[in-house]
Amino acid sequence: MALPWPDDLLAVPHRRDVPFAKLTTLGVGGVCRWLFEPETEAQAQAFVRACARERLPWRILGGGSNLVVLGDIETPVVRLKLAAQVRREGLDVHAPASYGHIRLSGDTAAMGLAGMEYASGIPGTVGGALHMNAGAYGRETVDILARFRFLTPEGDLVEKAPEPGEFRYRWSFLEGGRLALGMVVRLAEGDPAEIRARVADCKARRGTSQPLDKRNAGCIFKNPPGFSAGRLIDQAGLKGLRVGAAEVSPQHGNFLVNLGGASASEFRELMALVQSKVRDCHGIELEPEVEIW
Ligand code: EPU
Repeated sequence: MALPWPDDLLAVPHRRDVPFAKLTTLGVGGVCRWLFEPETEAQAQAFVRACARERLPWRILGGGSNLVVLGDIETPVVRLKLAAQVRREGLDVHAPASYGHIRLSGDTAAMGLAGMEYASGIPGTVGGALHMNAGAYGRETVDILARFRFLTPEGDLVEKAPEPGEFRYRWSFLEGGRLALGMVVRLAEGDPAEIRARVADCKARRGTSQPLDKRNAGCIFKNPPGFSAGRLIDQAGLKGLRVGAAEVSPQHGNFLVNLGGASASEFRELMALVQSKVRDCHGIELEPEVEIW
C-alpha cells in the first residue's frame, strides 16, 4: 500500500493497528492497520471521496458481529462513530448507521411502537442490519424500512425509499461499495405490554437455540432455499466438531464458536470441513452468510 496517504484522508479521525479481537464478536483475525472513525457524515464523505479519488480499495466495519477476519487488513477500514441519537416523528424513527441495532429495537419498544421486536436479539449496528438486510423470525430490515441514506462509491449522498430488487435475503445493493449512513423505520402503534411480551419471546427462543455465551459471528452459512443450514450440519453429525479452538456449536449447527484463542486458520479449516462434509452427506453447497475478510 502506497504511503503516505493524502492529507484529506489522514484528517479523518483514525487509529492504527487495532486487533480484530477487539473489533469483532468472534474475536479472530489479525490487526486492522488503518481504522478510520468518522464522527460526522461530512467526515464519512471526505473519507469516501479521498479513497475514490486515489482509487484506494476500502472496507466497511459495523459492529463486527457478522464478520470472520482471516488475517491482517492493510486497506483502510471505516467504522462510523456518528452521534448516537434517534429521533421519533410520528410512527417513524430515524437512527444513524452506527447506532446499536438491539438498542434501537429496545428504544422503539419503549416508545410503544410495534414492529421491531424481531430485532431484539440481532447484534451489530443499524448500518450493518441495513447493509445485509438482517432478519429473524420471518421478518427482515426491509419490512420496516421507510427511507435510508448512504454514500455512493464516489461519495455522493443519497436518501431514498427502498425499491424492488434492492433488498433480498441477507443481501442489499449497498454491498456494492455503498456506505450506509442511517435509516428511518416505519412502525405501528402497539400495546406496550404486548410488545414487551413479543420481545421476551424472541429473546427466549434465541437464548435456548443459540450459543450466546460463546464468542460467535451468528449463523455462518446461509440457509439454502428450502433448508436450514443448521439442521443440515446437525444431520451430518458435525456438532461438536473442532479444529483447535474453533468448534461447531453443540447447541446450534450453524454457529461456529471460538472456545478461546482460536486462530483465523483454524476457522478457515473448520468452515471448509463443514462445507465438504455437508456436500458429501447432502449434496448441498453451503455458502457463507458471514462476511469474510
Ligand atoms: N435445527 C436443527 N439443528 C440445529 C439447528 C437447527 O435441527 O443444530 C432445526 C431447528 O430445530 C429448526 C430449524 O432447524 O427446526 C431452524 O432452526 P432455527 O429456528 O434456529 O433457525 P435457522 O434457520 O437456523 C435462522 C437465521 C438466524 C435467526 C433464526 C431465527 C439464517 C442463516 N439464520 O436460523 O439468523 O436468528 O432463523 O429466526 O438465516 C444470523 O443471521 O446470524 C442468524 C443466526
